Amino acid sequence: MNHDHHIHQHENGTEETNRPLSPWLVGAFMLSLCWGGFYLAFNSGGFRQDVYESNAVNWAGGGAQAAAPVDPKVVGKRLYTQNCVVCHQPTGMGVAGQFPPLVGSEYVLSQGNMGENHLVMLVLNGLQGHFMVKGQAYNNAMVPWKQLSDEQIADILTYIRSDWGNNAPAITPDFVTQIRKETAATTDSYTQEQLMAMPAIKPATVPGSSPVKK
Ligand code: HEC
Repeated sequence: MNHDHHIHQHENGTEETNRPLSPWLVGAFMLSLCWGGFYLAFNSGGFRQDVYESNAVNWAGGGAQAAAPVDPKVVGKRLYTQNCVVCHQPTGMGVAGQFPPLVGSEYVLSQGNMGENHLVMLVLNGLQGHFMVKGQAYNNAMVPWKQLSDEQIADILTYIRSDWGNNAPAITPDFVTQIRKETAATTDSYTQEQLMAMPAIKPATVPGSSPVKK
C-alpha cells in the first residue's frame, strides 16, 4: 500500500509537468510571431525585388489572395511596366503619331468634361479609330485590359495619375468594380464619340490623395 501510494504521488508529479502550456503563454507566443510577420511585411516592401524587377513574382496578379500591403503606386508602376510601357513609354510620353501620351492627358487627369469613369472605361474595354489627346490626333487601336483585376487597374491608374508631374487623386478598386459592372455588356472597343457620349462620373476624392490641379 505504502509503495503504491508513493508511485501514485510520483505519477501526479509527472502529470504536473506534462500539462499543456498556459493559454496565455501560447497567446503571447502567437502574438509575437504575428508581430514579426507584420513588421517584415510592412518594412521590407520598399526593398522587395519584385517591386523593381518587372519579370519577378507577380504578387498582385492571378487572383493572389493575401498580398502584403504595398503602396498602390508601387504595384501600379510594376504593372504599368509589364502591360503598358511598350506603347506609352517609361516617360509616359507615348510615341508621336502612334501612341498618345499619358503625361498631361485630359483622359488620365479627368479634366474638362472627362470623368474618372471615361478613363476606367477606355482601359477596361479598349479604344479604336480617331482619337484626340492634347490636341493631337491618333488613329490607332488599344486592346481591352479587362483581364486585369479591379485592383490591378486601380493601381495602374493611380500610378499614371501621380507620376511624370501628373497629380490627380487615386482610383479605388471599388470604382473600377462599379464601372466594370456598368459596362459589362460592352463587347467592342470604344470610339472617342461613343466614349464621350457617356456622362462624366467624378468619384469622391480618396482621403489622403492629392487634389487635381486644374
Ligand atoms: C500596344 C500598344 C498599347 C498598349 C500596350 C497600351 N496602350 Fe493605351 N493606347 C494605345 C493607343 C494606340 C491609344 C489610342 C487609341 C486610338 O488611337 O484609337 C491608347 C490610349 C490610351 C489612353 C487614352 C489616351 C491618353 O493618352 O490618355 C489611356 C489612358 C491609355 N491608353 C492607357 C493605357 C494603359 C493604362 C495601358 C496598360 C494597362 C495601356 N494604355 C496599354 C496603345 C496602347
